[in-house]
Amino acid sequence: MGYPEARPRRLRRTPALRRLVAETRVDPSMLVLPVFVREGAAEPVPISSMPGVVQHTRDSLKKVAHEAVSAGLGGIMLFGVPETKDAVGSGAVDPDGVLNLAITDVVAEVGDQLTVMSDLCLDEFTDHGHCGVLDSDGQVDNDRTLEIYAQMALAQAAAGVDLVGPSGMMDGQVGAVRAALDGEEHTGVGILAYSAKYASAFYGPFREAVDSSLQGDRRTYQQDAGNVREGVREALLDVDEGADLVMVKPALGYLDVVRAVREAVDVPVAAYNVSGEYSMVEAAAARGWIDRDAAVLETLTAIRRAGAEVILTYWALDAVTLLG
Ligand code: PBG
Repeated sequence: MGYPEARPRRLRRTPALRRLVAETRVDPSMLVLPVFVREGAAEPVPISSMPGVVQHTRDSLKKVAHEAVSAGLGGIMLFGVPETKDAVGSGAVDPDGVLNLAITDVVAEVGDQLTVMSDLCLDEFTDHGHCGVLDSDGQVDNDRTLEIYAQMALAQAAAGVDLVGPSGMMDGQVGAVRAALDGEEHTGVGILAYSAKYASAFYGPFREAVDSSLQGDRRTYQQDAGNVREGVREALLDVDEGADLVMVKPALGYLDVVRAVREAVDVPVAAYNVSGEYSMVEAAAARGWIDRDAAVLETLTAIRRAGAEVILTYWALDAVTLLG
């Protein structure tokens, strides 16, 4: 008598069986919705390269925050689009700046039901579009930028944020932000560190979403696409400096980095399903070239399978509907 024949298809026979033995589940509570808030907007402004995504007004932001709560999302990540920009990104540290007001509004509306996060970076606020201030040679000045990040963290903490998200890839940014927060008794404010952030073509639509004025690229501070060991090193440095969560970005082209970071650190790992990843699927779906809903669920499942415990995605609300 031989062994019984192997028949793995038995467990795929019905939807109920497939659900029972699923190795990877995506839950609404692990999804974070990134949202844009535009200073002075009277109506939500569509973003043409991201169909279905808008720059919110202060009022429509409140509405979407309530939708996020009803959907059971884990959190919301806020980005500000200021009316005026300058060389040092003054709007970022101004308590009345668009992002700080957005934090205040969302915390007042839903602060006890949703994790409120904010981008901690200067690119939306600088007229040259870089993530930091420039020195006399036009290069991004790491340490002067850290001083501004520290002030920005304090402004966001004062507005009531739960987690700040330093995303500028300056060396020492997590340590500088942690020290500033602790120095002003904001010890309860956490840091979601954009640790392994690659210089990526897939941020293209985001730059329209925040009216970016960037000329050139960010290759002197964001990482090269081919480097995985360096991504792990960045994550370990951030944990040492006090990061509470670490993030890999973009997600889809970097699932090996997500896995490597997951295995190297003992804090939660997030991944950012970025604008270009969103727009590619939406554009193909609009032409009838791809099954959008299936592609969305497959994307999120793949990111989760790679080891991310938190996923930032513009599909967060739609995904909850699709997950049923
Ligand atoms: C920087 C920042 C960027 C994104 C999130 N934070 C842009 C960049 O680094 O160029 C991109 C997000 C996306 O593409 O969805 N503040």
